[in-house]
Amino acid sequence: MCFKTKQSIHVDRSLYIYNDAATGAAVTPAGQIKLNMAICHASWVLTVVVVVVVVAGAAPHHLLVRGASDDDGGPSSPSALAGCDLFRGRWVADKSYPLYDASTCPFVPDVFDCRRNGRPDDAYLKFRWSPANCRLPRFDGADFLRRWRGKTVMFVGDSLSMNQWVSLACMLHAAAAAPVRATFTSGEPVSSVRFEDYDLSLVLYHTTFLVDVVQEDIGRVLKLDSMQNASEWLAAHLLVFNTWHWWTYRGASQVWDYVQDGNSTYRDMDRLTAFSKALSTWARWVDADVDASKTRVFYQGISPSHYDMSKQQQESQAAGMAPGLVGGGGSCLKQTRPLQEATDAAGGGGTTTSLLAPVQAVVRGVIDAMTAPVSLLDITAMSQLRIDAHPSVYGGPGRDGMDCTHWCIAGLPDAWNHIMYAMLLQQT
Ligand SMILES: *[C@@H]1O[C@H](CO)[C@@H](O)[C@H](O)[C@H]1NC(C)=O
Ligand SMILES: *[C@@H]1O[C@H](CO)[C@@H](O)[C@H](O)[C@H]1NC(C)=O
Repeated sequence: MCFKTKQSIHVDRSLYIYNDAATGAAVTPAGQIKLNMAICHASWVLTVVVVVVVVAGAAPHHLLVRGASDDDGGPSSPSALAGCDLFRGRWVADKSYPLYDASTCPFVPDVFDCRRNGRPDDAYLKFRWSPANCRLPRFDGADFLRRWRGKTVMFVGDSLSMNQWVSLACMLHAAAAAPVRATFTSGEPVSSVRFEDYDLSLVLYHTTFLVDVVQEDIGRVLKLDSMQNASEWLAAHLLVFNTWHWWTYRGASQVWDYVQDGNSTYRDMDRLTAFSKALSTWARWVDADVDASKTRVFYQGISPSHYDMSKQQQESQAAGMAPGLVGGGGSCLKQTRPLQEATDAAGGGGTTTSLLAPVQAVVRGVIDAMTAPVSLLDITAMSQLRIDAHPSVYGGPGRDGMDCTHWCIAGLPDAWNHIMYAMLLQQT
């Protein structure tokens, strides 16, 4: 198990900004995941540790019911959501949030456990996403557990996928009937939380690019049209994919030496082009191999970061191709409130938001061209407002960096899952 805890942020003129989006995970006897924030090169050792967590005591059902305040949770029928853009809206302060208490959720890795790591403010936990033109149905975890009984929900991607996976595991853990019997396994590339009484598995399949990186004689080759192990994802009934951040890394953070496109191998390639080709490979695979009558497919969308950059750095990024980054509102340190307007996020003259626009356009373009029904969790804009929701310096023991990429748990990814739940209701 590679288990370095190096986490550094490179705010320099090269095009990568941070190198902490890895998700090698290990389990301590206490059952807590430790996120491996270092980049583990080709020497991954598969480690699977099984921990059965039996949490006695009352599950905090009341926390979920309390989420039903105001306009959140009225009798919003699935059909009422039709035609509503769930991703356009605003963050509303709501004292009944969060949906669960992270300190009672056994799956939260140190790096996401901001309060336990000493984050003093908690207002960031108490915001509810409110779509502009409709009501989000109340998140009903018991209903989710019932509907997905006997099934497998799989998140495939990098540490932003891990963020959403942990969030859903906690949301369901809080809703499951006590005592909750969950089996928690952690390994590389597969980790899972299985709710025994519901025969429901939430699986995380860690992959940075969706396509393959293969060790060859010349070095590590990123293969834009190869997905050797994708068949391992076919068993799932709900698949949620994500890749982006790793495409931007250069220098020591880059985990490949060559990039291969068809029969041609290159030292490097325009990163947005490479991302687009790989996503097209993924799309062809979904179209051809995923049985739409059995498996629902989501794409997580582009999760923004909030690093403060100088104008010059922004310009060099814009010229070279953007990392998954939005700054301009300052770094995420000591931010305790969401930004009020999406335009705030583009404070530095509008360039920062536009950095992500081409990436979002690629994602939309690829998904629109697919024959298979794939739902886009278009989380970018709603997440750009949440400059307050990152770990910043509360990323845990041994971490001296500033994490403005991931999200605290509880927190923002709960809203991603809440919307995914609403979209699933709508389409059943
Ligand atoms: C596919 O899975 C096998 C077995 O786990 C592993 O050895 C191999 O490295 C994987 N291939 C890629 C390209 O990730
Ligand atoms: C790649 O090389 C193989 C074998 O030489 C050939 O059959 C194939 O057509 C080539 N593919 C492309 C895209 O050029």
